[in-house]
Amino acid sequence: MDTRAPLSAVAKEHLAFCQDVLHGLAQPQKELACKYFYDERGSKLFDEICQLDEYYPTRTETALLEACGAEIADLIGPGVCLIEYGCGSLAKIRLLIDALDSPALFVPIDISGDHLLDSARALAEDYPELDIQPLIADFTQALALPEKVGQKAKRVGFFPGSTIGNFDHQAAIKFLRTVCETVGEGGGLLIGVDLKKDLKTLIRAYDDTAGVTSAFNLNVIERINRDLDGNFDLSAFCHQAIYNPEESRIELHLVSLMAQTVHIQGVDFRFAKGETIHTENSYKYHTEEFAALAAKAGFTTVKTWVDDNELFSLHYLTVCT
Ligand code: AVI
Repeated sequence: MDTRAPLSAVAKEHLAFCQDVLHGLAQPQKELACKYFYDERGSKLFDEICQLDEYYPTRTETALLEACGAEIADLIGPGVCLIEYGCGSLAKIRLLIDALDSPALFVPIDISGDHLLDSARALAEDYPELDIQPLIADFTQALALPEKVGQKAKRVGFFPGSTIGNFDHQAAIKFLRTVCETVGEGGGLLIGVDLKKDLKTLIRAYDDTAGVTSAFNLNVIERINRDLDGNFDLSAFCHQAIYNPEESRIELHLVSLMAQTVHIQGVDFRFAKGETIHTENSYKYHTEEFAALAAKAGFTTVKTWVDDNELFSLHYLTVCT
């Protein structure tokens, strides 16, 4: 008989973080998964990034949602069940809820439980008619949706912010397939996707003058110091944002400013001067490229909206029959 106590969700998360960090930093190109940016401080810094002038995606997508709300509502139809993947502060869903004809149910999904429940509570105060069923889960994994979802007719996913850009192409297709299965036949997905554009605009968005993105990037090694007993010297690393044209992606790195050794959980990691830790990818698409990717996952593109400056796109996809 196994007498070990089951691990709590928090302990499991901590263990996964520890294993991923030790594995990622042992690779020839040191790497850390970008999901680890989002502890409490990282989430706050990300909210700050979204307010920056240089970070065009948030305001452009918000303006698109405002401008195209009526058209989106016509396509989606009345009384739907909305499922938002990785919802953070639930700011953008308000625009969609306002535009839609009496949505019946809203399922916000996020791994960060406290943040999700606080945001869901605030939303419930403003939308007392709406049935809100928050789900604390990693939305990239198979989901057990609340039972009520099964009773509603049409399901529509919402995945704003171009978070899909943080997945490589295979992972993006895999995730979209999961969404496809979740929303099922007759269902849809409204998704925000960042577009390819001039280098200057892209780099400014990921290397802002106020240094917020730098603090966001460095926070992941601060988190390792805090949570995994690491001894990174933050002043010995700097933030770097580069565009990789072969892969059509922005890459964030942390560059070691000197030869040094870092200890984490009793393990030594050596860094040469100039060596980097690759911390994030943010893929950029042409609208047709994204439509082709979505098609591989089983979605048909019904309509795409792009702002006048061609910075950002919104796509309404339905499940291929
Ligand atoms: C969440 N995600 C879509 C952001 C992006 O643009 O890739 C994360 C981010 N990283 C640096 N700035 C913003």
